[in-house]
Amino acid sequence: MSRRLLVLRVNGLAREAAVDEHHTLLEVLREDLHLTGTKHGCELGECGACTVLVDGEPWLACLTLAVDVEGCEITTVEGLAAPGRPDPLQSAFAELGAAQCGYCSPGMLVSARALLDANPSPTRDEVRHALAGNLCRCTGYEAILDAVLLAADRDGSARAAAHVAGGGDRGDR
Ligand code: FES
Ligand code: FES
Repeated sequence: MSRRLLVLRVNGLAREAAVDEHHTLLEVLREDLHLTGTKHGCELGECGACTVLVDGEPWLACLTLAVDVEGCEITTVEGLAAPGRPDPLQSAFAELGAAQCGYCSPGMLVSARALLDANPSPTRDEVRHALAGNLCRCTGYEAILDAVLLAADRDGSARAAAHVAGGGDRGDR
């Protein structure tokens, strides 16, 4: 079994770990880097609990070798919030009861963040499609869809406010 020193970029930081080359990204995140927000579910690529972002795209960490994503930008649920300020998705999930046992929530949140970054105003069907690979045993999904749409509205309002504050679209410049 061969081990090597790996440098992964996780949540904006370079993180070093001596890992077995056959270990998955899920194992390395949880066991070597102690980022246990990413959940260990089926390990078969079927539940989405292990979803993280790799260069902004949702990837299943249970099916990804850590050595294959060296040099990529990895975002886990721990990296969604700004210091002292939750991601709008996290706030909306909490407000609307979209997290019950919470086991699916990290994967749902990162998949939803990838969607909103690519498509800031999705339809309900587009949200449903984007989260199709993330299974939830508790909520019946409707509260999750509601929460993603609420967060999209708030993201849009925040962008509009920032645009106005920055003097966007002024005709006097
Ligand atoms: S743990 Fe990766 S898809 Fe289920
Ligand atoms: S909240 Fe329990 S699995 Fe989704």
